[in-house]
Amino acid sequence: MISNPLSVKILKTRSDLEKFTSHEIIEVIRKSVKEKSRCSIALSGGETPKNVYRQMGLDAAMSHADWSRVHIFFCDERSVPPAHPDSNYGMADRVWFSRSAFPHENIHRIKGEIEPHSAAREYELEIKKYFGSNPVVFDFILLGVGEDGHTASLFPGSEAAAEKQALVSAVPVQSLNSWRVTMTFPVLNNARDIMILAAGSRKANVIQRILDASAPDLKLPAAGIRPGKGTVQWMIDEEAGSLLKDHSGILIKRISLTE
Ligand code: 6PG
Repeated sequence: MISNPLSVKILKTRSDLEKFTSHEIIEVIRKSVKEKSRCSIALSGGETPKNVYRQMGLDAAMSHADWSRVHIFFCDERSVPPAHPDSNYGMADRVWFSRSAFPHENIHRIKGEIEPHSAAREYELEIKKYFGSNPVVFDFILLGVGEDGHTASLFPGSEAAAEKQALVSAVPVQSLNSWRVTMTFPVLNNARDIMILAAGSRKANVIQRILDASAPDLKLPAAGIRPGKGTVQWMIDEEAGSLLKDHSGILIKRISLTE
């Protein structure tokens, strides 16, 4: 049984969650740049992360971080070109990068436009090139969680979710008749700080299954996000947390932005 308790912050509304998370991420990045003069982050796709990126583009605190020291990677990507509406890179560029003086040479996108296995191999090399002789330890990783318990593009029962060596894998998504490219647990669980977002009543069941510390459903990939040396902070709104009980062995902090 993993010892360190999970930490959950519960915000009243989805909007509060997006604003609070945006600010928390900027603070994590500022702290890393201040400590190490560099910061490596990996972003996920999805509506909940997307709204946080939009907030980050609007957050005055953005101007307080030295973004020239920040390198942005992606936890996963769909097998589509960057201009496609489904592209995670394209989404982040539209709502955040294009609206800030963010150095584009610091953005490392997964090439969704090429064959997925080649894209996975190329991306693994790009990650290793950035970290050089240092271990692959991302300073910050932002994840979402699907109703089926997937995170990044690690789907329940998938080979990629069972991968123990490769840092990046190609993932067939039968239900969508398509492919994705995703970071694997060896990278995700090596990170320094991880935030996992969930908002809305549709996520209440999966949040309860993952965060019920007495019997977390470890078949769910998002339940496997337990960085060995790092921290994992669940950031959810009240609707997503509606089935959680305070006594279930997790550290729950309810945050109100109005006070
Ligand atoms: C993706 C993401 C995926 C997403 C979750 C949550 O490419 O779709 O990496 O893991 O973060 O599915 O998405 P929502 O916030 O839209 O529910």
